[in-house]
Amino acid sequence: MGKKVLVVGGGGRCHAIVDALSRSPQVEKIFCAPGNAGIAEQAECVAIKDTDVEGLLAFAQKEQVDLTVVGPEAALAVGVVDEFRKAGLLIFGPTKAAARVESSKEFAKSIMQKYSIPTADYRVFEEYEEAAAYVSAHSLPIVLKYDGLAAGKGVVVAESAEEADAALRDMLLDARFGKGRVVVEDFLTGPEFSLMCFTSGEQIWPMPLAQDHKRAYDNDKGPNTGGMGAYTPLPFVTEEDLEYAVEKIMRPMAAAMVAEGVPFHGVLYGGLMKTPEGVKVIEFNARFGDPETEVILPRISSDIYNLFATVAAGGTECEVEWNDKAVVGVVLASKGYPGDYAKGFEIGGLESLEGVKVYHMGTACKEGKLLTAGGRVMIVVAEGENATAARANVYKNIERIECDNLFYRKDIGKNYI
Ligand code: AMP
Ligand code: GLY
Repeated sequence: MGKKVLVVGGGGRCHAIVDALSRSPQVEKIFCAPGNAGIAEQAECVAIKDTDVEGLLAFAQKEQVDLTVVGPEAALAVGVVDEFRKAGLLIFGPTKAAARVESSKEFAKSIMQKYSIPTADYRVFEEYEEAAAYVSAHSLPIVLKYDGLAAGKGVVVAESAEEADAALRDMLLDARFGKGRVVVEDFLTGPEFSLMCFTSGEQIWPMPLAQDHKRAYDNDKGPNTGGMGAYTPLPFVTEEDLEYAVEKIMRPMAAAMVAEGVPFHGVLYGGLMKTPEGVKVIEFNARFGDPETEVILPRISSDIYNLFATVAAGGTECEVEWNDKAVVGVVLASKGYPGDYAKGFEIGGLESLEGVKVYHMGTACKEGKLLTAGGRVMIVVAEGENATAARANVYKNIERIECDNLFYRKDIGKNYI
């Protein structure tokens, strides 16, 4: 009997996961909760929110799904994996406790320190006065990472003493968000890249490398976004760098999680930087990266269902193969994003695209028309024998898409580090 899979989530990343699963000969039926207008062409979308643990569990039981795959962090953070496991269901993703490697900067840093995993030196502060004294005696720039319960304050790279002080006040003295903690860390320099690993306890299967383009406009100008494009493989990471990243960072981190009693099963995402002193960790995430996943999963040539099921079951044996194509993905975003933007613009021309994949991020379908419905609307993904060919293919196709309210970066994958 063919397998039934439930994918939790609804953006471009989940579309890429659904697409990869649809290439598995074992998979007979894919559900996606909640999915989106593009995913609906490849899976049956069900109107359950990705954080509605009870709803997801009841659905998975009713449909007798064989495996559930979790995309977004929000679903991990509410413990969807823990609840599915308690109910005896197979689910791909880390427990809430293991997902702290992403949700708590301090937790991640303390493990890295304890197990000598290379990362920026840091200190943790709860009191504004102590933090301010440390920061004022420290060289600039300096990096401040909020570690409290309130999300959204994020990371501040402070270039001046005033900026650092304003951020510390915001993070430590602002009572609205409850009492937080701040990780203060040294500023590192170098190109950033993403190394995601399928991880099952101590066993890891590294994926090909990718780089995300976070700024809104060409040449890395403009505000930070959820990601404006990505490409794989990377020209600036040598074999030696990669081996170091796998053997000195990702594998030891997976082993450390086991040793700490929080074994990780899912995708451990290393946000890494190639500094003049070697590769170091900027952050870990507990899930597939977005938009890296949209360019990486098209390269898997083995059956992804086997891998998901092996990791979900805690297994350590699985054949994984990747092709050596270059893949470039360019995000089409609503004008104004990441600030305010309007929705509801019609998108046309998709039927004229050739040799590319389109993963939907924020679209809606109304009365047979495809409309923009989010900040990031879709990502167009093209393969090629090399990056130049993949880039040419992606941009040629994007020009055929008709919509009055979209913009995109013209320099994705342009050897841009
Ligand atoms: P994070 O959420 O930890 O990934 O931080 C967001 C962004 O801040 C990263 O992608 C980096 O560009 C930057 N950043 C974080 N930590 C550092 C650091 N120690 N040195 C330089 N830049 C950093
Ligand atoms: N591309 C960065 C992330 O997924 O967090």
